Amino acid sequence: MQKATLEQGLGSVELRSMPWRPPELGLVDGRLDPYKVLVSEMMLQQTQVARVAPKYREFIARYDSFSALAAASQVEVLRLWQGLGYNRRAKYLLEAAKELAKLADSPTLEQLMALNGVGYNTAAAIRVYSLNEPLVFIETNIRTVVGHYFFLDRQDQVADSEIQKIMESIVPSEDPRTWYYKMMDHGAILKKSPSSKSMNSFKSYSKQSAFEGSRRQLRGQCLRLLLEEPRDIGSLVDMTGDKDRTESVVLELQKEGLLAKDKDLWRVAG
Ligand code: ADE
Repeated sequence: MQKATLEQGLGSVELRSMPWRPPELGLVDGRLDPYKVLVSEMMLQQTQVARVAPKYREFIARYDSFSALAAASQVEVLRLWQGLGYNRRAKYLLEAAKELAKLADSPTLEQLMALNGVGYNTAAAIRVYSLNEPLVFIETNIRTVVGHYFFLDRQDQVADSEIQKIMESIVPSEDPRTWYYKMMDHGAILKKSPSSKSMNSFKSYSKQSAFEGSRRQLRGQCLRLLLEEPRDIGSLVDMTGDKDRTESVVLELQKEGLLAKDKDLWRVAG
């Protein structure tokens, strides 16, 4: 019974146009460029479509392939990344490009999963979107749709293992790429509709913590200030107004390979 209604629901979805989907991103022999799909999926991991779209266009205009990106410096990539947040993803993307530029063919699921910042779900999404392979993956919009059609009585208490089982029975072998686009767009609409229960307490859903005054905000601020110019810790603390946390954030960013220190001056690494 649920399957029929999901099909009806998906049938009424009008696909949103996005620069990482056809027709804006052209199909070549039925494939989308895995580089462009990887860039979009990394950006979309923690940032909303509206914010990602212009940045994605800018990024692709500057680096149009794994090899073009692989030749960039980390500082350049981090500069371009500003506005998306979660700067570690820029580092991971650059590392991914260096790794994948060597390959003659599309990266396999295993090659994708070996990258920092790419788990099974992102790897499978990249294969689905670029190659139209009928793989199962789960992300927030998909949880919303499956919750809505299959677990309406307990949408907020569904484990990913349950979502996975349902997905295994509904992902079509025919054009899974378009089917997933519809799932994503249907989920986005369901989330906005007032009748839909908030998905925020979904078992596997990790809500982003409040940004204002957060450690994440301070990390972003320190990185941005050091992209302007190298500074000593004293000037940095003066600018953030947060002595305790600025010192530990800077050390954390150094450990992650985003910052480096020359003499007394902190700078962005790479
Ligand atoms: N289309 C392709 N990938 C997407 C994503 N991660 N979120 C929304 N729409 C998409």
